Amino acid sequence: MPRKKFVAGNWKMNTTLAEARALAQAVVAGVGSAPTVDVAVCPPFVWLAGVAEVLRGSPVALGAQDVHYEKKGAFTGEVSPGMLTEVGCKYVIVGHSERRHGLGETDAAVNHKVHTALEEGLRVILCVGETLAERERDLQERVFQRQVYAACAGLTDDQFDRLVLAYEPVWAIGTGKVATPDQAQTAHHNIRRRMSQLYGEKVAGALPILYGGSVTAENAPGLMSQPDVDGGLIGGASLKADQFLAIVKAAGG
Ligand code: 13P
Repeated sequence: MPRKKFVAGNWKMNTTLAEARALAQAVVAGVGSAPTVDVAVCPPFVWLAGVAEVLRGSPVALGAQDVHYEKKGAFTGEVSPGMLTEVGCKYVIVGHSERRHGLGETDAAVNHKVHTALEEGLRVILCVGETLAERERDLQERVFQRQVYAACAGLTDDQFDRLVLAYEPVWAIGTGKVATPDQAQTAHHNIRRRMSQLYGEKVAGALPILYGGSVTAENAPGLMSQPDVDGGLIGGASLKADQFLAIVKAAGG
């Protein structure tokens, strides 16, 4: 079965509640009732309930930007996967580079989060990607292998059905230095090949692999038309409804 394209907006630590609701409303209106592309928005935790109300009854799914790796307990300031499903989340982003590099999130913590989130019924958007220094030393394959192997340790075939990978080269995030369509295709192809070696052809063939890092309405058509690019995880451009909707359109929606 061909993989369906998927475009998700990672709003990061942006928007007021009013802006978040207006943005969600504009995305719902622009996406229509029967999009051919899966679409999700990932607002800050505190706006999830407010945005969920706006999305209700629409095909636009709700996602969170992070989750804790335990189901409940004495973890001040943290949010559990059960809380996310209760507020209406279908997706959660795990292992974003801003958490790995900015907040010291380890591969082991990412693996723990992936397991707990999947056990609670969420779909996981697992982020991987090399830094500029790693790319300059041609280490991207090794970084990917380490990150994905650690993150996916212990997953069953059934759980892979609810996993989405996002290849987000760190040098491309928020920098305006987007990967070229060729660079993205090569990376995604290599990732899929490694996934096939690690987990079998069935898992690798069905796995959506999104590209993330400075995607805009202008560069999206070239990226989204690559055979192994199954959509995008969009940061800055997801904060403007017209830009985000143009990217959804470029993905075929
Ligand atoms: P930008 O699109 O702003 O580069 O961010 C990408 C990203 O980090 C999405 O998770």
